[in-house]
Amino acid sequence: MSSTSGTAHLAFSGYMGKRLQLGVCGSVAAYKSLDLLRRFKDSGADVGATVTESAARFVTPLSFEALGASPVYSGMFPVGDDVFGHLTPGEACHAFLIAPATAAIMAKIAHGMADDMLSCQALAFEGPLVIAPAMNPRMWNNPSTQENWQKLKDRGHITIEPGCGRMACMDVGQGRLADLDTIFLTGLKAMTPQDMAGTKVMITLGPTREQWDGVRFWSNPSSGVMGASFAVAAWLRGAQVHAVCGPGTPWLPAAIMRYDVTSAKEMYKATADLWPAVDTGIFTAAVADFSPVPFGDAKFKKAGSDSLRVEFTPNTDILKTLGQAKRDDQRIIGFAAETGDLQANAVGKLQRKNADMIVGNIVGTPESGFQSATNKVFVADRNGRTEEWPVQPKTEVAWRILDWLLQM
Ligand code: CTP
Repeated sequence: MSSTSGTAHLAFSGYMGKRLQLGVCGSVAAYKSLDLLRRFKDSGADVGATVTESAARFVTPLSFEALGASPVYSGMFPVGDDVFGHLTPGEACHAFLIAPATAAIMAKIAHGMADDMLSCQALAFEGPLVIAPAMNPRMWNNPSTQENWQKLKDRGHITIEPGCGRMACMDVGQGRLADLDTIFLTGLKAMTPQDMAGTKVMITLGPTREQWDGVRFWSNPSSGVMGASFAVAAWLRGAQVHAVCGPGTPWLPAAIMRYDVTSAKEMYKATADLWPAVDTGIFTAAVADFSPVPFGDAKFKKAGSDSLRVEFTPNTDILKTLGQAKRDDQRIIGFAAETGDLQANAVGKLQRKNADMIVGNIVGTPESGFQSATNKVFVADRNGRTEEWPVQPKTEVAWRILDWLLQM
């Protein structure tokens, strides 16, 4: 079973045919760029690397080659045939990411100083340039650095603020390289066609938790990976994304608006508030259909009880309720978690809930459903089109469903 890791919803792998240039500057954080390289390679993209002379004191160019970067530039004058190496990324790459970026490379780019391979390549690059700095907090806070940073932002470069915390030199403040998930996704987004730009998407994900007494609740094992994959895919493609998240759902990039809720009642309130302002609702959450009548804040004590009876009352069916309030310009994708009779149950839910599309899966098998990084789905839309897909990563399922939605 391919169970979910903390990053299963970030593992997009459809970037074949895309090319990224990774610039690496001299910083203790340079070793992290090897991990970035590996993740971009896993996405299917081709990656070239430009390792500055200072960066090579921390990580050797050979390490980048060994992990599949090609070509790897490490000096101003490339060896061999590639005499125009300073122009190559500008001609071949869809995005240029500099991580870690030092104060020096920021100053060079801000002022047009091209005196090494990386600054020449960055100056000759007309596509999206992503800059993720790392440096000592005093260097970061210096007015010169801040002025250069502002210049880079004003020019429309994609900037990733460094994080705060303790530095290698033990100083505390802002200057740490941002987290790798954010840098990786920002680089991916820079290579992604923005075919959902201008749309607003709301997604429900994860389980809900219905409290019974002071220590017990009613819930299910949903991990939220399917919904988180939708949230990240729609954001990568340019949508404004609102994620209504049940307990224990995965990390999402800060640019995704996240609303953490616990119970079905809270999830309904959050979605009902958002619904009028969005174009698309994607309902992946495993919402509890019933909640126990609360025992109260105290812990139920077992002494003297041979059995336990708990009464349940129904919760609002969020999808059905919002489906009934759907405007002509809104679209709804629902999910159907089944243990049998998949197609008939899924199509029944499509109709009953006034959805435009339904994605059905069998839960309780190793490769699909709760807690799995993969899913095997049956998809039906309101026009009568149906398809059954083989087991694939949930990121891939999300991407293909969004393709389908855009064609409807
Ligand atoms: N759903 C919802 N609110 C609920 C129950 C379900 O929004 N209270 C949504 C789910 O997010 C999913 C769809 O409705 O998109 C179907 O959920 P599922 O649990 O498969 O089915 P139910 O409608 O609950 O019906 P049943 O449990 O009888 O299969």
